[in-house]
Amino acid sequence: MASTTVVGLLGATGETGTSIVNGLLEAGGLTIIALTRPSSVSKPAAVALKDRGVEIRALDLKASQDDIVTSLKGVEVLISAIGPMEQLEQIPLATAAKTAGVKRFLPCGAMPVVPAGGIHMLRDVKEIVYNHIKTLHLPYTIVDVGWWYQIAFPPLPSGKIDYALGLPNPCLPGDGSQPNALTDLRDIGRYFAKIVVDDRTINKYVFVYNELHSPTQIFDLMEKLSGEKLDRQYDTLEELQAKIADARPKIAKDPTNFMLMVQQVSAEYLISWGIRGDNQPEYAKYLGYVTSKELYPDFKFKSFEAYLRDEVMAGKAKGVYDELRAKIVEMHKTH
Ligand SMILES: NC(=O)c1ccc[n+]([C@@H]2O[C@H](COP(=O)([O-])OP(=O)(O)OC[C@H]3O[C@@H](n4cnc5c(N)ncnc54)[C@H](OP(=O)(O)O)[C@@H]3O)[C@@H](O)[C@H]2O)c1
Repeated sequence: MASTTVVGLLGATGETGTSIVNGLLEAGGLTIIALTRPSSVSKPAAVALKDRGVEIRALDLKASQDDIVTSLKGVEVLISAIGPMEQLEQIPLATAAKTAGVKRFLPCGAMPVVPAGGIHMLRDVKEIVYNHIKTLHLPYTIVDVGWWYQIAFPPLPSGKIDYALGLPNPCLPGDGSQPNALTDLRDIGRYFAKIVVDDRTINKYVFVYNELHSPTQIFDLMEKLSGEKLDRQYDTLEELQAKIADARPKIAKDPTNFMLMVQQVSAEYLISWGIRGDNQPEYAKYLGYVTSKELYPDFKFKSFEAYLRDEVMAGKAKGVYDELRAKIVEMHKTH
């Protein structure tokens, strides 16, 4: 591809999108357009991107196909990092991308490895989008990213690292022994910068990850680094299934209730990576993914241990989802 590839990015101000913008800017040689819903174009986060050389362009996914096609003018590679609740809005986007002549669409993946078909509601919604893309004969790449470092560690009894907790998950699923592939959120964009200019990834599922750690290993590591003793609570399959069974009928009655979604989605993840052991490279390969270790064996990253020691324990880590976090902490207290 030419060095001036034009990349359009939806969700550029979100957690995943921010990493992608940073990775693309760091790589250089790309023109980046943040495709932003009209109500958000003047938000401080969008304005800050403009100051870094990113074009901010309004795109309304609820507008007519003609309008969406117009918003995609000139975009060669389209990436979506849209929020979990808006996945199906990518269907008209994909149709418009085909009409607009987009050369490759990377719809919103960014999940751990989970098989389609009833294991995880978010995977199944995303697969609807992927199947739509395939019906269009639109070139695609699906990028899944493992589980973020930033949400992979439990709180300490002292409260010392509460400031950095992502979506806190203080339990160990099953017997805590399943290896789980982890990626530093900040590396996701660095992987994307390689993928979007790599023809080997066209029409492929790509699994990027840094390291594997089981929940037990993470609890051991946290005790070693902090000198504190952690309370180990194990969530059984039956307990997690009960959380899903509780949430499902309530979601059917109240489909936009975000906290109910979090309850179901969290339990489904814990079953998938924590008990089934889905989020592992060998299983990814079995499902047909090509992995970052095969594509980019020299990719440099900070180890999870170094991240915990030098950033989280040292009071220097940046948490994720500041607004949502408080709500989820409250939810964990009441369940
Ligand atoms: N692997 C993991 O460990 C992990 C962890 C968390 C999330 N994820 C995945 O990451 C993906 C992205 O989630 P996230 O948490 O990074 O997102 P997020 O922080 O919630 O941000 C969502 C972004 O999408 C934009 N957006 C929402 N609706 C839009 C619309 N209709 N039109 C255009 N833009 C819209 C938002 O822009 P505004 O400024 O307009 O609101 C925002 O920039 C999800 O699919 C999720 O499954 C993975």
